[in-house]
This record gives sequence, C-alpha cells and structure tokens, in this order.
Amino acid sequence: MLQPFDLCPDHSELTNAKTTAPEGHKKKRKAGESTTDVASVQHLRPGLVLLKGFVKPEDQVKIVRTCRQLGIGPGGFYTPSFKNGAKMKLWMMCLGKNWDPTTGFYGPTHPCDGAQVPAIPEAFKIIAQTANSTASEFPQINPDICIINYYNNVGKLGLHQDKDESGRSINQGLPIVSISIGDTAEFLFSDARDKDRATKVNLESGDILILGGRSRLLFHGISHVKPNTTPTWLKEETGLRPGRVNLTFRQY
Ligand code: SIN
Ligand code: MN
Repeated sequence: MLQPFDLCPDHSELTNAKTTAPEGHKKKRKAGESTTDVASVQHLRPGLVLLKGFVKPEDQVKIVRTCRQLGIGPGGFYTPSFKNGAKMKLWMMCLGKNWDPTTGFYGPTHPCDGAQVPAIPEAFKIIAQTANSTASEFPQINPDICIINYYNNVGKLGLHQDKDESGRSINQGLPIVSISIGDTAEFLFSDARDKDRATKVNLESGDILILGGRSRLLFHGISHVKPNTTPTWLKEETGLRPGRVNLTFRQY
C-alpha cells in the first residue's frame, strides 16, 4: 500500500545507523540494573503519574524503528478525521485493535486498506507494564490496544477524554500508559474541556505518563510540539523526522 507518511524517510541513514544508543547514554545503567532509568516519579494529581526519562535510549531507538516498519506497512499511518469530517492534526496507526475516531468504536481492521491491524510487539507491552508497576498505583494491564500518533511541528490534539474502551476497563480505572518519543510536547489536562483552565506539563522524549484511577477520564490534549527538541542522539540513530511519536497502551 502506498503510504503518505514515513517516520524516517532517509532510508540510508536508517541502514547505516548503529543499533545501540551512544555511550554517554548507556553509562547511566549498570549491568543487571532494571531496564529503565527513572529520573523521577511525579504525582501530578490523583491517578496521574509522570515517570520522567523512563524509556532508556536504546529502547527509544527500537521503538522508533519498529513504529517506522509498522507504519509503512499494511494498517500503517494515516490522517484520521473526526465525526464532523475535520482532519485530525496528526498521523495515527493502531496495533491490537483499530480505533475509529469517526465512530468511537474499536475493530479488527484498518479503515483505509482493510488490513488486519498489526499485533502489539511484546517488547512494547513489557515497557508499558514495567512503567505501570513502577508507578505502583494501578492494577496491572494486559494491553490489547496501542494507538500510535505522530505529530509534526504543527501537530496538536484538542482536549478530550479516552472513553471508548469497555465500561469495565474504565470503571476499574485501568490505566492508560502513554510513551513520548522525539520532540517535547506541551500536554494539557483538566477536569473540564476548557483549555484556559487546563494544567500544562512538558512531555519529553522517554517520558511515560500514566492516567488511571481517578484520572482515567481526565480531559487531556496536546497544545503544541516544541520544534528541535528531539535529543540529537535519537535523530542520529534513527533519522526520525522532526516531530513527536506518542504511544498509548490500553486494555479494552
Ligand atoms: C492521546 O490523548 O491519545 C495522545 C496524547 C499524547 O499525544 O500525549
Ligand atoms: Mn487521549
């Protein structure tokens, strides 16, 4: 299928890229240490936990490469529309189950090419589950949905609630685990769909934000992406286009 979008368009750069993160980023971790370096665990409000710098550099590189591979294949990235027909200001692809923003329903196939959506890689699930255990506030999830968004430098996402998962998942406050890679985003959250009253927090490459429990139905969105904030090593290793990749893991 012809893809309108490719996270890392310079294939030669990808082919030549080393498979590990630069030494300066590796040395933070000792042999036998956990898979993550958590600079801090921030409790932003009840049920909203930010794990700063949780995803180690080599995993960020692998995530970008895997998303690129999946994104140019069947069921890959596309620009979705809302119910009213307006285009979203991002590219999206789904793993596990497809989320259709025009209906709010999950299904098995991609809306453009009819392909079965790809499975969630086990390595992705492990990162999401490890993060959730580290936050140690929420029941563990077995993610069966991963929505991947790519925002370029003018990408954004209005305030909304994630409420298309099953009633059981939402009522139990099962968390949504959100991984940020690439450029920093300004993330907004609020009790109401009102961006002037929303709190802002920067999500940087490698951060994981978890929305569960009393924050499971929090209004949230992305006001903007900050240009040229992707770590240099990530750009060099992956050839990632300017912009931000976000992965949200959910259990239906
Ligand atoms: C989302 O709300 O689905 C994505 C949020 C983000 O990009 O951080
Ligand atoms: Mn959301």
